[in-house]
Amino acid sequence: MLSYLSLHDVNAPTIAPTGLAHGVHGPSDVRFQDIKKVYGSVRGGAGTVALESFDLSIASGEIFSIVGPTGCGKSTALNLLAGFEATTEGVVAVGGQAIVGPSIDRAVVFQHPSLFPWLSVMDNVTLGQKCRGEPASRYEERARHLLHEVGLRGFEKHYPYQLSGGMQQRVQIARALIGEPRVLLMDEPFGALDSQTRLMMQELLLRLWQGFKPTIFFITHDVGEAIFISDRVVVMTGRPGRVKLSVEVKAPKPRDYSFISSPEFIDLQGTLLQAVHEAAASVYEAQAGGVLK
Ligand SMILES: Nc1ncnc2c1ncn2[C@@H]1O[C@H](COP(=O)(O)OP(=O)(O)O)[C@@H](O)[C@H]1O
Ligand SMILES: [Mg+2]
Repeated sequence: MLSYLSLHDVNAPTIAPTGLAHGVHGPSDVRFQDIKKVYGSVRGGAGTVALESFDLSIASGEIFSIVGPTGCGKSTALNLLAGFEATTEGVVAVGGQAIVGPSIDRAVVFQHPSLFPWLSVMDNVTLGQKCRGEPASRYEERARHLLHEVGLRGFEKHYPYQLSGGMQQRVQIARALIGEPRVLLMDEPFGALDSQTRLMMQELLLRLWQGFKPTIFFITHDVGEAIFISDRVVVMTGRPGRVKLSVEVKAPKPRDYSFISSPEFIDLQGTLLQAVHEAAASVYEAQAGGVLK
């Protein structure tokens, strides 16, 4: 296993711990501290306030999901944590270190597989390692093992166009996991897959998580998916996005599909769907009001 310490942004400033820095399972690994994110104005128009008073603590090794109306700032939060965007106000920190940019310690899986079409499956998975000058002897066996785990044994030499969408997404996940990142960020990763494939991928993700238990920051529009995989689910308000509701999912992991007919799952589904509906309705009313005025 790679050492997390060796992969950290050692020069990043530290933030003071706060009373909120402890999640349900221990000290906070990821902390969004009173975040405001404003995107600049386009052609003289007003800027967009995507997030305001956005506060979250995620424990180390927690699987954490966010649901909320479209445009409420979910991807913005992920991009801040990935280091692709900077906050307007507030600090996002991992392990107490403020984020100053992207890091291999925080791997991202997007909705649409962003594989290089001219590289084989094996080369797509190991490109990062190769670019960092790691000797092939160190990563090839690991890559083979991961591809086996995601059900792609025998596809190492195939090219992306020879794979289905679900298979390509599994390559993307193997690529994200090969460096054993401290945090795995996933932005609606199964949103474009058919429902059967999606179920398989949710179970696969839980199995992979058991391996080295990364912290997972998962965005989805599917409340059932969020409950099935997560230790905690947060519902966001409409824009500017804030935390509207946070619920804990207590069922022990690993989980199998019998969980979805349990009283806990059904209870949580009712609570979360109501909160999502309220948030979406307030967005719709605000937009309709704007059009009518
Ligand atoms: N790069 C950007 N420049 C300007 N506005 C943006 C940018 N990215 C997102 N936004 C705006 O910020 C708001 C939140 O977007 P986003 O985080 O993508 O929401 P979600 O992922 O919840 O659908 C939206 O109003 C969107 O138009
Ligand atoms: Mg989004």
